[in-house]
Parts: sequence; structure tokens; C-alpha cells
Amino acid sequence: MTKLPFQRPVNELSEKEARDELTALAQQISYHDQLYYQKDTPEISDHEYDQLRLRNKQLEKHFPHLILKNSPEKQVGAAPAKKFGKIEHKVPMLSLSNAFHDDDLADFYQRIYRFLKWDPATQPIELVAEPKIDGLSASLHYQKGKYILGATRGDGYQGENVTNNLATITDIPKILPPHIGPIPDYLEIRGEVYMTQSDFYQLNEERQKQNLSLFANPRNAAAGSLRQLDANITKRRPLKFFAYAHGFCSQPLKETHWDFLALLQQWGFSVNSQKVLVKDISEALTFYKKITETRSQLSYDIDGVVYKVNDYQVQERLGYVSRSPRWAIAHKFEAEKAQTHIKDIQIQVGRTGVLTPVAILDPVNVGGVLVSRATLHNEDEIVRKDIRIGDRVELQRAGDVIPQILKSYPESREQNSQTYLFPHKCPACGHDAIRNEGDAHRFCTGGVKCPAQTEEMLKHFVSRGAFNIEGLGKKHITSFYHDKIIQTPADIFRLKEKAGILVKREGWAGQSLKNLFEAINRELLKAQRSFLNKVNIDKTNTEHVQY
Ligand code: IVH
Repeated sequence: MTKLPFQRPVNELSEKEARDELTALAQQISYHDQLYYQKDTPEISDHEYDQLRLRNKQLEKHFPHLILKNSPEKQVGAAPAKKFGKIEHKVPMLSLSNAFHDDDLADFYQRIYRFLKWDPATQPIELVAEPKIDGLSASLHYQKGKYILGATRGDGYQGENVTNNLATITDIPKILPPHIGPIPDYLEIRGEVYMTQSDFYQLNEERQKQNLSLFANPRNAAAGSLRQLDANITKRRPLKFFAYAHGFCSQPLKETHWDFLALLQQWGFSVNSQKVLVKDISEALTFYKKITETRSQLSYDIDGVVYKVNDYQVQERLGYVSRSPRWAIAHKFEAEKAQTHIKDIQIQVGRTGVLTPVAILDPVNVGGVLVSRATLHNEDEIVRKDIRIGDRVELQRAGDVIPQILKSYPESREQNSQTYLFPHKCPACGHDAIRNEGDAHRFCTGGVKCPAQTEEMLKHFVSRGAFNIEGLGKKHITSFYHDKIIQTPADIFRLKEKAGILVKREGWAGQSLKNLFEAINRELLKAQRSFLNKVNIDKTNTEHVQY
């Protein structure tokens, strides 16, 4: 999917342009929702996704008459995947609207007062501030205190039946203690399934040893682990659960959210300890600031703070607007920033020959992650940001995206510093690197003669969207290519002939190699089958053509 250009301010767009952009945004958001919620393999960062939604919201605000029937604002998540049974949520599992700046939060609070027609001077509204856990939400149903059913959020109205998978999570009580006040006959508890960072790293390490594909981040690892058809696999994954809300309950529980959280804890649920009860926005912002500074010390990922009106009666009066409650908001964290030096600029050659400059950095910690490389995008970007080797720079990392250089500090550079000259020859093969008019990138003209292009093409060949051979990842391709074991895609299917060499290589003894050959065979058979199907369909089509 291509990205949308966001350069034009909304108020400068014609109706046609706005309509086109809204249509494209609806398609893009739905595409990314599918990847995120159903396949657990997002292609863009949460930050980029939020930007898409924000742009859509701004367009809808400016052109309300152009709001589409399938507006992303009207949907949450993605429909349940077919592989699971469906569960209808008795109370929809909706989403939260986002605040990105302090002002958005002040607006949220003022909106509440306006809606209630209350006076801030005399009628205080308490909020509960809690971390926004970066996992996936789940709902747990209890009948007479016994866990009977569990579901994912799905599209907010129907979720996936993952009862047995959720039952494997030790944080989730299976029987609620009867001695802690009356338990409603029917009770639905909601919360977030997540994985700690250390468990995520350990899981990935183990997967690497077994030549299995790696999870991009703890959230994907949690989602991928929960949404398994075989609950025995889920059982072996270190999943955890924080409870933070309720759905349908046959009897009222408590009068305030704060008291409800305490009750959850007494019932044996794990409730996040980093929460506070605040009496106004200024206290809420103090909490936000504190948690921004301390979040890197938490053992799990959080991506913001959620503020909820404490009083349930007030929550009820406020109700919902579109797909989110008026009584709650998520205050997202800004992308993490840091400063460091550029040690070098290297050129990466892509599968199609595109040259991409990459800054090699003095390693720096950006929000808990050690960053030593950042993309510089293209030739013009280096000129526009006036970036040179040796410069002090500011960089940012948003979610799990490639870190980006934001700016350089020319005032602190040495006098003999030189502007960076973008190469006109491919650094990998020496062929001319040309730039066509109107193109942002320079291309290597070496084609298949360029080793860098060939290596990238091979990596692409085994990637998820293409042949996706289990156990044969990018790292293996690099080492097989450099050692001349694989030079063309066809070599992958002839790997068995090199079993004698492979078995002597680290990590390929015994079962691993056997698994690899089986995976290659499987993919080959799949490809053959789909080719034959296509030929048959084409044949049928031809036979039915009427002249
Ligand atoms: S309350 C009406 N509290 O954020 C929504 N949600 O965008 C009530 N989340 O689907 C949700 N931590 O997956 C709530 N402490 C928290 C949360 C939290 C993470 C997620 C949840 C929800 C999404 C909303």
C-alpha cells in the first residue's frame, strides 16, 4: 500500500480532492486494521496509523457532508477472523478517542463540562488516570463467578471465541472468590492481554534458534500467541492480563471506577499499579509527565495514558459519540527523541536498485531501545536537512518504525566539515546510479549484475508476502548468498542437493534441515497447486466465452 501525501492543509482542498482522499484513507485504514487485528502483522507503526486516522478526522470535520458510509470513524478494529467462532458482545467493545497534545486533553475536559452543563468552579469531576497497555483487549464472561467464555474485541460488536486460549493465562481467575461481596450472576470483565519485554525477547530468541519467523514487538507476540487455534500453543506462551473495565453485568458493581478497580483486585485480577485518582486536568498532566519519564522502567510496553471519568453515573450521562465514549480519552505518547552524532553515511541498495542513504550513529538510547542506524530517505532529504558526516543530530523513534533523523545542528559543526556528496555509482557493483527527472531516488543500473540487488531480491522472494518459507529468513539468505549456496530463486528449490554442505553449518544439524526441506516442499506444492488452479480457471473462462 502506498502512503498518502499529507502536505496540503485540509482547508485548501477542493471537494473532489477531499472526497478522493477520504476514499483512499478509508481503504488504507481498513487495510491496516485487517493487518493489525486479524493477521497480527502490521506494516506501519501505531504512530503512522494514528496520523492516518487524525487526517481522516480533520477531513471529516471540515467536509461533514462528504463523510463516507464506511467511514473509519464508524468502525473499530476488524471483523473476527473466520478461523474462530464468533461471540456477540452484549455491550460493544468500543475504542477511545486520542489526545496528542495537552490542549486536546483540556478540550476533552471542557467538552464534558459543556455536555453536562456543569460549573467547573463548584462541580469537580474526578478522573482515573491509568497507563494505556500496548496489548490486545479481551473480554471474560463469568456466570455465578465461574469463567465460561472469553473473546477478542474483533470489530467491537463481534469478537473471536478464544475461551480456551484465555483460560491458559494464569493472571485470569477461573473462579471468583465468593466471600468478597456479592458476585453478579452474569459478569463481564475486560482488559488487556500483553507480554512483558523480557518474555518477548526470550520468545524471539527461542524462535530464532528454531528458524521460526520473529515477532516485531511484544504486542504482536501477544496477539499472535492468543489467536492460535491450538490452545496448547497459547499455554506455552508467557501471556499476562491487566483487568481495567467491565462489559455487561447483571447487577451494578460499584459507584466509581476507582472502587471497581479495587474490587477487581480483591477478586484476584491483576490490576495495573500505576494508576491515580486526579481531581482536574492539571493533576492529570502531572501524572502523564511522570509516567512519560518512568515508562522505560516498566517491564511492559505502554503507549499512552487513559483518563476515565471516575463516577459511573456521570459516565452514563455522558454516553458515547460515534465509536468512543465521551467519558474517556487516550493521551498518546509523543515519538521518543534523542541526540547523537553521525559517524558515517552508508548507501543501501534495494531490490529494485533504489539507493537509500542510512546514517550510522554513535549508539544512543531512545526510549529504552539502543539505536545505531537511522534512515535518511534520499538525496534531497540530506540536502534539505543539511546533514553531514560528523554532525550532531536529533532523531526520533515512534513505535517500532525505523528511527528518523529530524534535524542537524549546523552551529555546532567543525569548520572543515564537508557537504555529503551522494554517489553517482552504485557502491555495491560500480554501475552508474542514475536519477530520472521527477524521481526522488537514484537507481543502480546494474540489474541482476548487482550483488546487492540480487541479495535483496532473494530476501524478498522468501518474505511473508511472497514464498514465505518457514525457517528460511533474511539472515539465512544473506549468509547463503555470500557463501554462494543460493544465487538465484531456483537455487532455493535445489537446496536439498547441498544437504551435505548445509548440515555442517551452524544451526542446521538434524531436524532443522529436515524441517527446512519440508517447508520448501510445502511452498513448492502450494505454488504448483495455485498455478494449476489458475490454468483450470483460465480454461473454464475460455470455454465459456461467447463469441
Ligand atoms: S478502557 C471504551 N483502559 O485501548 C473503551 N483501554 O483505544 C474502554 N487499552 O480497546 C477501554 N489500556 O485495547 C482502557 N487502561 C486501559 C487500557 C485500554 C489499553 C486499549 C484497549 C482498548 C483501546 C482503546
